[in-house]
Parts: sequence; structure tokens; C-alpha cells
Amino acid sequence: MPVTPGPLLIAPSLLSANSAALGDAVRRVEEAGADWLHIDVFDGVFAPNLSFGPQTVADLRPLSSLDFDVHLMIAKPGAFLDRFAEAGANGITVHVEADEDVGNLLATIRRLGCRVGLSLVPDTPAEAIDPYLNQVGLILPMTVRPGFSGQRFMPEVLPKIAGIRDALAAAGSHAILQADGGVSTETIGALRSAGVVSFVAGSAAMGKADVRTAIRELRAAASAQTNA
Ligand code: DX5
Ligand code: ZN
Repeated sequence: MPVTPGPLLIAPSLLSANSAALGDAVRRVEEAGADWLHIDVFDGVFAPNLSFGPQTVADLRPLSSLDFDVHLMIAKPGAFLDRFAEAGANGITVHVEADEDVGNLLATIRRLGCRVGLSLVPDTPAEAIDPYLNQVGLILPMTVRPGFSGQRFMPEVLPKIAGIRDALAAAGSHAILQADGGVSTETIGALRSAGVVSFVAGSAAMGKADVRTAIRELRAAASAQTNA
């Protein structure tokens, strides 16, 4: 079983927080030992939901020192990149399926000084991101279809994740792999073994009453599998 080197980053997803108390939710997950805060943005076009905007990020920024990891599941993200960077995003992830030039989007995120992330939905083949492997710092092969937390994990994406890991190594890319969708104590081990470093956890962390225990159990489940 391949051993994944490097850090194990837990990124609770804001989508699973009570939107009437986002500030408390962010403080709670930071105190509970989270590494990143994953902020899912939908436009109702790319994904059938609506969620947060740049103002939410700006309002949360002074409350936390967590890495703000913004995931733009929107069809035309270009008009929003500087606004999310200005609001305090540390990383901005766009989709290879976006309706705009992906190379330009990635170059703009880099120019803004944010971590450059590129995501693909479960039905998009890994080859779609081949042209960008050396233009990104993070690759996010989603393990649910965009739009909602609490969905069933799609294990059929695991071989795709391992293939992207191998493609990154072959290209000499230093990008890290992120998993997003259905991450839990049951699935995190297989994801870790496939090379994932950053783990988005909505239901499995942000959505839990005892976040500290949830994060500790996720880390233990990941390490247990790695040492198997
Ligand atoms: C889905 C979002 C995911 C979601 C994860 O469109 O991108 O980040 O919040 O939620 P869970 O961890 O509950 O699957
Ligand atoms: Zn996400």
C-alpha cells in the first residue's frame, strides 16, 4: 500500500455550518485543530445551489488565522478572483469545466498571490487537467457531484486520484492532492493511500457537535490506513 508522504491537512467545509452562526463555526473548528477552512461557492448554474460570496470571506477573515481555501464551483469565476483574493482567500480553486479560459484563470490566481487550485467533477476524465499540472499548487478530483454536503462518497474516483498522483510525479509537479466530498473515517484511509494530503470534511467535521473528536478520529483513521 503506497505511503503518502507529507502533512495531513483537515479542511472543514463551511457549507456544513449553520449559516446563522458562521463566525462561531469558524472559531470552533480552528480551536478543534483544523488546518484549513474550505469555503464552497456555488452560482446555481455550475452547481444547483447557492452559498457564500466575497463579503462572507471578508467578514470571516479577521476571526481566524486558518488557511481560507475557496472552492469556486461557478461557471464564470474570472470576475470574482480578485474579489475573493482581496477578501482574504489563501487558496482559490476553479474548475477545469468552467466556461472561461482555464489557463488565464490559473495565471490570474497566481498573480493575485493565492494558492492555485484546479478541480474536476467526478465525470470529467483526469486527462482534462494534463495541460495544467505545472501551473497549479493543488488538484481537487471531487468525490461527489458539486452542490451539497452529506452525499455518498464515490469510490470509483479513487483510481483517478491515484492516476493524477502519478501524473503529477511524472510531470515533476509539486501540486498537492485534495479530496472533497464524502470524506469520513471510513473513506479517508483509501484517499490517503491514493496520495491525498488535504481533506475537505463537511458532514464528518464541520457538521459534528464535537469537532475536536471528529478531527482526531479522521487523523487516526488516515494514519491507521497508511501504516497498514
Ligand atoms: C460539495 C462541496 C463539498 C461538500 C463536502 O459540492 O464541494 O465540499 O461541502 O461535504 P461532505 O464532506 O459532507 O461530503
Ligand atoms: Zn468543496
